[in-house]
Amino acid sequence: MKTEIFKIYRRNNNNINKVCEILKNGGVVALPTETVYGLAADALNPEAVKKIFAAKGRPADNPLIVHIANKEQLKEIALSVPENAQKCINAFWPGPFTVILPKKDIVPDITSGGLNTVAVRCPENPIINEIIKRSGLMLAAPSANLSGSPSPTTFKHVLSDMNGRIEGIVNSYDCKIGVESTVVSFLNNEVRLLRPGKITAERIKKIIPDLIIDSGVLQIIKDQKKALSPGMKYKHYAPKCSVTLINGKKQAFIKFVNRKNITVLAEKTEQEYITAPKIFLGEHPEHRLFTALRELDEKGIKKAYVKSPDKKGMGLALYNRLIRAAGFNEINLPLVLGLTGPSGVGKTSFAAKAKEFGFAVIDCDKAAREVTDEALPMLIKAFGETIVSNGKLNRKKLGVIAFSTEENTQKLNGIMLPVIVKNINKKIKKLSVKNDVILLDGATLIESGAAEKICKKIIVVTADEQIRFNRFKARDNLNDIEAEARKKASKPNEFYKSYADYYLLNNGSFSEFNTVCEKTLKEIIKDL
Ligand code: TXA
Ligand code: MG
Repeated sequence: MKTEIFKIYRRNNNNINKVCEILKNGGVVALPTETVYGLAADALNPEAVKKIFAAKGRPADNPLIVHIANKEQLKEIALSVPENAQKCINAFWPGPFTVILPKKDIVPDITSGGLNTVAVRCPENPIINEIIKRSGLMLAAPSANLSGSPSPTTFKHVLSDMNGRIEGIVNSYDCKIGVESTVVSFLNNEVRLLRPGKITAERIKKIIPDLIIDSGVLQIIKDQKKALSPGMKYKHYAPKCSVTLINGKKQAFIKFVNRKNITVLAEKTEQEYITAPKIFLGEHPEHRLFTALRELDEKGIKKAYVKSPDKKGMGLALYNRLIRAAGFNEINLPLVLGLTGPSGVGKTSFAAKAKEFGFAVIDCDKAAREVTDEALPMLIKAFGETIVSNGKLNRKKLGVIAFSTEENTQKLNGIMLPVIVKNINKKIKKLSVKNDVILLDGATLIESGAAEKICKKIIVVTADEQIRFNRFKARDNLNDIEAEARKKASKPNEFYKSYADYYLLNNGSFSEFNTVCEKTLKEIIKDL
């Protein structure tokens, strides 16, 4: 099909009459709106609407929004308009706000996707507004992209998706807003936000305080049949490039993307700090969001990151589009990794190396010592006054008693672990402002359940028993009996190994182990 291009920048342009003729004859023309370009046809003409579905490759059960020029037209297609809907219409029309209401029979099934409701919006853009008025039609218009692709916000986007598939395309200004209208359902005596947009939830709440945010706004819709807004169940806005949302504090996000050196969709405040390749989102990301998503494919980029927007104000709409573009892929920072193994195997050397690679390290032994004051009364109750010298905890004595039997070791863990875990979580929270990866260096991560609860991956270091024995004697100044007891206090190597995502054996020289640490860290970073 030959697609005619109509240049229209003002409402008094003569091309508007030509567009109206095509529409009145049941043709499809892509038009600008203030949100995104729409693929318009006579909403009450089933044959015309059918062409929209064909041009987009849109599933038949995904209904279209009917665009009208004034509030009067609403009465022709809506069976009833509840008071709450009327209040919102008065506040937000003309504008990027769509209401879902019970429909009159005049609206064909194909337009409403077989539902007994209709979505209606009165756009603010003067060109579509003038076309609706002059044609005397109501226009069904989904976004003018191929189904599943990012919505089009410029003439170029529309041309690339629709050339040859429809009768005409209006060549006009880029869309002012950049994301589709806010969609709100007024059915069943409730007011429910189905798709966030420029008219934010906060603004609607000023009028309707008990606005419900539908769970499908932020989450994947599990029961596909029950999707209130059928469009939310389809893969959406997705470029071919695999996009991942990174949820974390700004500095941590920047550290992470620079470390990974993968293309970033970067907002204005992030741009100057990002050394990884970047595509600009600019100051108001919604304006360039869909353009940026399309650029990823135009540039042949295979993988990209973007910071998860705060789900406030316009951020909710951005998040809603991005999480779909990302196929619900999101990484939460900081990534907490666990480093464990028997004592005396060189975990501290690995931790030091990890710091060189920019990981924050929490020394869990230190975190434990910090809370001994808090735990001292409980320790005395369990092990007696002998663990106290000069009013203070005598660590060596506690160690000797606590590690003397399996039962005592368990008793010690039962007292210390809950307080230690609390302290560790406090440290993680503090470090998460600036750090993308946090390494917990701790001998009892697995036994305490911290590994399972807090750590995404576990790194295990072990060494042969004799080597550990010798280290205890040299490092901690223990005699043979004490060193033997310390050795036995840790679980056997095999126990740790069975939990390892990454495993290192430290039987060699310092420099050999150093090389092993570096190799493992590079592998870990690649996998993050
Ligand atoms: O800003 C916009 O709304 C743009 C411009 C062109 O006006 N249009 C647009 O249409 O975004 P579309 O078809 O891409 O998205 C309409 C959304 C879909 O998720 C659809 O499932 C939902 O609105 N929708 C339409 N009618 C509905 C109904 N009766 N009940 C529930 N959801 C409905
Ligand atoms: Mg769409």
